[in-house]
Amino acid sequence: SFTPTPDDRFTFGLWTVGWQGRDPFGDATRPALDPVESVTKLAELGAHGVTFHDDDLIPFGSDEAAREGHIKRFRQALDATGMKVPMATTNLFTHPVFKDGAFTANDRDVRRYALRKTIRNIDLAAELGAQTYVAWGGREGAESGGAKDVRVALDRLKEAFDLLGEYVISQGYDLRFAVEPKPNEPRGDILLPTVGHALAFINELEHSELVGVNPEVGHEQMAGLNFPHGIAQALWHGKLFHIDLNGQSGIKYDQDLRFGAGDLRAAFWLVDLLETAGYEGPRHFDFKPPRTEDFDGVWASAAGCMRNYLILKEKAAAFRADPEVQEALKASRLDQLALTTLSEGESLTDLLADRSAFEEFDIEGAGKRGMAFEHLDQLAMDHLLGAR
Ligand code: GCO
Ligand code: MN
Ligand code: MN
Ligand code: MN
Repeated sequence: SFTPTPDDRFTFGLWTVGWQGRDPFGDATRPALDPVESVTKLAELGAHGVTFHDDDLIPFGSDEAAREGHIKRFRQALDATGMKVPMATTNLFTHPVFKDGAFTANDRDVRRYALRKTIRNIDLAAELGAQTYVAWGGREGAESGGAKDVRVALDRLKEAFDLLGEYVISQGYDLRFAVEPKPNEPRGDILLPTVGHALAFINELEHSELVGVNPEVGHEQMAGLNFPHGIAQALWHGKLFHIDLNGQSGIKYDQDLRFGAGDLRAAFWLVDLLETAGYEGPRHFDFKPPRTEDFDGVWASAAGCMRNYLILKEKAAAFRADPEVQEALKASRLDQLALTTLSEGESLTDLLADRSAFEEFDIEGAGKRGMAFEHLDQLAMDHLLGAR
């Protein structure tokens, strides 16, 4: 059935259902939502847990006593509902102090403050049992060329992740970092704009084993990229530590639509990939219920994220199980792709000596073979549309 349970491991950011609808052109359309209410309501809807930025839970500037009070109420809600906190993150973008970034701000005192703010919330994340700490470089970027020396900024970003890795190791926390790429918005250009940029950066880190990616559907699609392909590569590198599921309609501002809205076909292939690859992390929704909605609309939007995932999971499984699909996959030679290009025991010298591979290869004949991809794709479409 399409009714979620905690076993489905669906999680939501407090900032998603809690988004008040403020945008660059308009004021809030909804009142603030108490995190305790979010936890309770999401539990009722069948979610497994919630995630948060430090400032979602503890309003920026709270004193120590107020901070403890907010954490206590939150813990009580978690205990009462059985909701988990598998991930937490830092708000390094709202306060004006971060207008030129955090870990890569030109101002050194801002960078030191950003590290301290992050470490304080890492302690809380570990206390609450989180295993992933997300780092979205919201304002690590620039609007103009001379404003940022990108090579030096990457040195500072590496310095930050090396220090955070050192901290987590020194505390013995069971916590890994997940870098979240995004090409632009709120900055004109953001560092580590895509999954590929992030993966390459991670390879240069001191504790690279502790750092993976948290790709978001809409962020890759804002750059016109194929999201399931990015996820497949992250999996291939063993770096898919977390995922932000939502919807986006093409190359435009970050829409953060509910999962399944926007590019539905990409969503189908994504669920097919996550489920067949055995991804075991949370299915985390990072969406914004549109500002047209009241709270009924907010909860309908949240429920829709989970329902769409479960519908697509069933459709994708039916697609894979369909005997005609299995034949079509063979006709498209997916089984051949799985064979190594050299046979076992065959060497490069053997390949160079193999006349059938080159001198006697029927190039014209091979060029005439159809790949049968259209039939295969239509079968997927039939499943997705409920026509099979
Ligand atoms: C976005 C981002 C953010 C981050 C979040 C976690 O839509 O621009 O996804 O929502 O995921 O701030 O750090
Ligand atoms: Mn987004
Ligand atoms: Mn996100
Ligand atoms: Mn978002």
